[in-house]
Amino acid sequence: MKILITAGPTREPIDPVRYLTNRSSGKMGYEIAHAAAHAGHRVLLVSGPTSLDVPDGVDFIPVESAEEMYQAVANYLPKMDAAFFAAAVADYTPAEPSVQKIKKTGANLTLDLVRTKDILGSARSPIGFTGFLVGFAAETENLEANARLKLEKKSCDLIVANDVSRADIGFDSHENEALLVFPDRTEPFPKAPKHDLAMHLVSMLGE
Ligand code: CTP
Repeated sequence: MKILITAGPTREPIDPVRYLTNRSSGKMGYEIAHAAAHAGHRVLLVSGPTSLDVPDGVDFIPVESAEEMYQAVANYLPKMDAAFFAAAVADYTPAEPSVQKIKKTGANLTLDLVRTKDILGSARSPIGFTGFLVGFAAETENLEANARLKLEKKSCDLIVANDVSRADIGFDSHENEALLVFPDRTEPFPKAPKHDLAMHLVSMLGE
């Protein structure tokens, strides 16, 4: 199968030397890329900046901003059979990044932010992807209910939901514990290395 994976954080430019980002390490997406390539799939990894090595045998498109990630995904997704959207895409980006470095002036500085495109939410339409679609949900409360809302709103086949209020799993951790939320059922995946969750997710795809 041909599989696209998004991973890592995005960087939203404020000026030439500053950006907005988040704590995503990229580990979950890179583990899925590794497991999928190992299982013999053709893998394209679209990733924001991380400190991780690209797994062997994986095609790689590095991106920085949410807009760049959207463009790369929109280009390649229609040819794919499955997609895992593990990236922590910024929901907002500076409305007008400054061309020059912003100098300090007053006591306060207000940044005007605008919404980014929802890449996962665009996969079915307008991008036109018809393959197996997996999204991720980072929640601090009502894990299953919020994940199920995302599943329906973004027409996914599966949402992998994490409780990010817990310090021992999720962001920057090697381990994860997740609820796998399908249209017709929910399955818990017990706390385990991200590698194990990645293998489990890839094994669901079959050959
Ligand atoms: N996602 C995306 N493009 C965005 C934002 C998110 O592709 N601009 C994807 C993520 O990769 C992840 C899923 O959408 O698979 C997360 O869903 P989202 O609704 O954005 O989650 P939150 O950011 O937690 O949203 P909210 O704050 O509304 O709960």
